[in-house]
Amino acid sequence: MIRRRFHDLPAEARQAITGKIGPVHAARTADGGLNSGIATFLDTDHGPIFVKGIPTNHPQAPAQRREAAINPHLPRACPRLYWHLETAGWDLLGYEVLPGRHADYAPGSADLPLIAAALAELQEITAPSGIPVKAAEQRWSAYAPPGTATLFTGDTLLHTDLAPHNVLVDDRAHIIDWAWPTRGAAWIDPTILILRLIEAGHTPAEADAFARRFPSWRTAPAKAEKAFAAANAAAWEEIASTDTAPWKTALASHAIAFHAHLHALPGNR
Ligand SMILES: Nc1ncnc2c1ncn2[C@@H]1O[C@H](COP(=O)(O)OP(=O)(O)O)[C@@H](O)[C@H]1O
Ligand SMILES: [Mg+2]
Repeated sequence: MIRRRFHDLPAEARQAITGKIGPVHAARTADGGLNSGIATFLDTDHGPIFVKGIPTNHPQAPAQRREAAINPHLPRACPRLYWHLETAGWDLLGYEVLPGRHADYAPGSADLPLIAAALAELQEITAPSGIPVKAAEQRWSAYAPPGTATLFTGDTLLHTDLAPHNVLVDDRAHIIDWAWPTRGAAWIDPTILILRLIEAGHTPAEADAFARRFPSWRTAPAKAEKAFAAANAAAWEEIASTDTAPWKTALASHAIAFHAHLHALPGNR
């Protein structure tokens, strides 16, 4: 989606925003991130606000509604949602601005322990009931080898999109962009992180070794890990077949490489 600037929003939507936050003195569009129609930092009398928005008829509008619904259940290190508006054909979220820059996942990066600590904190959180959180066994059922999707079940709140532009780092790591909250087995988020580590230059074996610091990944049944790796590779292959953006093609090949890595391991390791 083409990212628009604050001033490109319909006047009615801008008025609804200023009704919440008072006059906007300056607007700066965020770099990084891919999905939002608008992602902008606004200077107000009460300090900065991050506003993210998408047209209400966009296929990803439901993802933004899920993001709003999950926010009160997130750890304090995630940004607080101040308000959620639907107006003039736009779904708009107003967030606390967090300090920090995008995480660096490269081998040897000083951010890696901070990223691991933030994910370890998340691993302890149970997915809330009563709000629309997807279930892992449903989300990946179409891609899982027959009969294996039930291995993905669990109660943990998963982020499932741990790209470096969805992690802000200052003196700690903050996990942002909760468009895909999912309930499932705790080891799924470490698996998803593994692909992003490979993307940043780790070998599959190095990324696997990094993820073994998470008890969930260390103790997950090998059969379940392999089934998920197969499902995730199939899902990324489908994404890359419909959209040939180079990063999507690359992630599909990393997912295939990681699946092959797990299969080459002896027994249950
Ligand atoms: N609360 C926040 N504080 C500071 N920067 C943020 C915040 N939320 C998002 N950003 C910045 O805006 C970018 C896009 O936001 P994100 O929620 O990831 O939307 P998208 O769906 O477009 O990926 C992020 O990569 C980050 O740089
Ligand atoms: Mg993002």
